[in-house]
Amino acid sequence: MPVKRYIDTLSILLPAWHNSVAEAGISKYQRLAKLVQQAIEKGQLANGSKLPPHRYLADQLGVTPGTVSKAYQELERLGYLQARVGDGSYIRTLPQTRVGPEHFQTQTRNDDGLDLRHNQHIPTHEVELLSQYWQQLAQQPAYIQQLSRYSPEQGWPQHRQAGARWLSLGSFQPQTEHILCCHGSQHALFSTLLACLRAGEVIATEHLSYPGLISAARILGIRVLGVAMDEQGILPDALESLCQQYPIKALYLTPSIQNPTTGVLDTQRRQQLARLAQRYQLLLIEDETHAMLFDERPLPLSYYAPEHCILLSSLSKVACAGIRAGFIHAPARLINKLAQAIKAQSWMVNAFGLDIASQWILSGKASQLAQAQLHALQQRKAALTPILEGCQYRSHSHSPHFWLEVPEPWSAQEIAANLQQSGIRIATAEDFAVGRQHQPQSIRVSISAEPDDLGAIAQAMQRLRTLLLN
Ligand SMILES: Cc1ncc(COP(=O)(O)O)c(C=O)c1O
Repeated sequence: MPVKRYIDTLSILLPAWHNSVAEAGISKYQRLAKLVQQAIEKGQLANGSKLPPHRYLADQLGVTPGTVSKAYQELERLGYLQARVGDGSYIRTLPQTRVGPEHFQTQTRNDDGLDLRHNQHIPTHEVELLSQYWQQLAQQPAYIQQLSRYSPEQGWPQHRQAGARWLSLGSFQPQTEHILCCHGSQHALFSTLLACLRAGEVIATEHLSYPGLISAARILGIRVLGVAMDEQGILPDALESLCQQYPIKALYLTPSIQNPTTGVLDTQRRQQLARLAQRYQLLLIEDETHAMLFDERPLPLSYYAPEHCILLSSLSKVACAGIRAGFIHAPARLINKLAQAIKAQSWMVNAFGLDIASQWILSGKASQLAQAQLHALQQRKAALTPILEGCQYRSHSHSPHFWLEVPEPWSAQEIAANLQQSGIRIATAEDFAVGRQHQPQSIRVSISAEPDDLGAIAQAMQRLRTLLLN
């Protein structure tokens, strides 16, 4: 009997609905969705339980089928429900196991073709500086000995001090004791999620967001919810309305040179978000990895709401990714939690990579590398931008990628598939999309990839333009 499959579910939902009271400002579908969530959290509804068909449940509860449909949609959006075509809706309590967008998992270099999916540093003089570092280090056995030992979980004091310098900007001057050392921003982000959120909790982010966040959250069983954006980035009103509907714990965002749309939040928007963090007790996780070349970027959100913000960044896009050096700036109340998360993963960070970064930051070499990187980037852009004439795109003077609109009749996937046949790989909006809504027909093309061959990148861009404009 098909009805038997959801009769247990009904026996839980029916009394819960009749015992619940209507709350001002909460519509019926939100009330129903909340009841289902609560039943999951109490362990009354198990993974795989079938929910009644919309019309049947509506009759039982005395509401319209539309109310039930909207409740199911909300639950699906939050990851609590899986709709199987032709078979109904099933409870999902377990985190999704798919690791993440396909392009996040792959290696950065594709020897069979041209991989324009990744933003990475363009080689400048970092190899020379690395050789100098190692030669000098070889003359200091006592220091080598120190770096060879287990370090404090937060990192050695001199490295934390360098991190404070790296993250400072105008009136935002971090204190050393608020800094933790990490193996790059991805590690900083993973450690933050591990320390501050639990499986089943909800993190909001731009509806087009960094795939590394989506992937890390999925692995940890954290639910990700997309927030509407405009050309600057996240919309505070949209975030507020989500905070009123869902128990959102944190917000992750790239406020300066948003990945992928390249927008920059202005000061007013940052202050609005800071106020929302205070009002809704949200943890704001701001990722400035791509913004480190952009000296004129606005002050971070951490300046406006230091008690509610975590700021993370690295040297990957400015100097080189291989040294795996990055930093977290966090309020004092979270430092120990974050240190425990780092310890639980790897006991400590590799002090040698952090030492290279720190020496470069404190000696001014990191700034020289940043200047050289910017120069290399601008040279590439000057050579490649004219090729895109007539195409609709966004970029930022300090960003190595173009965010291009795909005109009718093409779809972004078709363009990507077509280019792939010629050995050219690009990212599409789908790689960045949170949920299945809001996937514009756009593609991301990075000009910092495949560092040695500007001619090949130019040819690929030419091919792309021909496809887009014909
Ligand atoms: C927004 C953002 N954060 C973090 C990272 C990863 O940086 P890292 O190499 O420092 O781990 C990237 C890499 O592309 C990124 O785009």
